[in-house]
Amino acid sequence: HDADAQRAFDDLIANERRIEPRDWMPEAYRKTLIRQISQHAHSEIIGMQPEGNWITRAPSLKRKAILIAKVQDEAGHGLYLYSAAQTLGITRDEMTDQLIDGRARYSSIFNYPTPTWADMGAIGWLVDGAAICNQVPLCRASYGPYARAMVRICKEESFHQRQGFEILLALMQGSPEQRVMAQDAVDRWYWPSLAMFGPPDDQSPNSAQSMAWKIKRFSNDELRRRFVGMLVPQAEALGVTLPDPDLRYDADQGVTAMGEIDWDDFFAVLRGDGPCNAERIQRRRTAHEEGAWVREAAAAYAAKQAAPRTE
Ligand code: 3HC
Repeated sequence: HDADAQRAFDDLIANERRIEPRDWMPEAYRKTLIRQISQHAHSEIIGMQPEGNWITRAPSLKRKAILIAKVQDEAGHGLYLYSAAQTLGITRDEMTDQLIDGRARYSSIFNYPTPTWADMGAIGWLVDGAAICNQVPLCRASYGPYARAMVRICKEESFHQRQGFEILLALMQGSPEQRVMAQDAVDRWYWPSLAMFGPPDDQSPNSAQSMAWKIKRFSNDELRRRFVGMLVPQAEALGVTLPDPDLRYDADQGVTAMGEIDWDDFFAVLRGDGPCNAERIQRRRTAHEEGAWVREAAAAYAAKQAAPRTE
């Protein structure tokens, strides 16, 4: 039976068809999807913290309203992705516990501080820009619920990237101090946003299998290079300098050379030794504990609704 099921699964993948929750799937396929989708969901939720830091400090009501909308979107992205992961047999509580106990990964990029308002621009332009580069191909991932979640997320991500670009543009057209602040934020966020795409292809143990299963469509290095190619003309439009003196780009071939990423810093962040790892997890743990009463109230209400009427 399993041999037939495996053949049917392989045919679906080979024919670019979607695998749905009720379809038979290899345990390893299920496991790697739970790994990637739960980490993706954790990234969205933890990603609310660096930006949330500036909601009360935004320079105008307009910026505050846009930032609140963006942070709220990230919570929604987390919800879609946790729900997609739950179709594979893991519960929301298990995933939350894994994150709070420090057993789950989330994107390295959210372990850096956001000391100035320009960071809101750099995060929107660079981090959400990188996320779009990585997430558009995931709209074609072989697992149905993940691919469908990505379609909705990518639409909202484009707004996130645009508002970040616009924040930096406003600063670059402002005072000399604002220009310095914008360039400083780009200098601090450029390399970590390239590392978001994952380790170099020759140090990416999951890529080969993930590409065979058509979860990952392009390699880490390929998407990274594509992302930098998108940034070059946008950096020129902004008037900011990308902090890579070895970067070579031409309009036809795109990026032809790039400097080296500091992989020691990346792997230190993955080990939990980044500037903000402890703070991010502590914040998430506190939010979970302080939210216990909401979960209890919702459960009590649901139980009351489900109980047979007595009158
Ligand atoms: N941060 C943390 N861990 C990372 C990482 C990163 N940027 N890049 C790689 N890793 C981890 C992997 O999870 C893997 O560890 P694991 O086996 O314990 O899970 C290890 O490093 C080796 O990496 P691989 O390349 O072999 O792993 P993958 O094939 O899973 O590729 C990935 C990594 C490209 C991040 C892939 O998992 C992926 O595409 N994930 C979905 C995209 C995602 O998570 N995006 C988060 C961006 S933030 C965001 O979306 C919020 C935005 O809206 C602001």
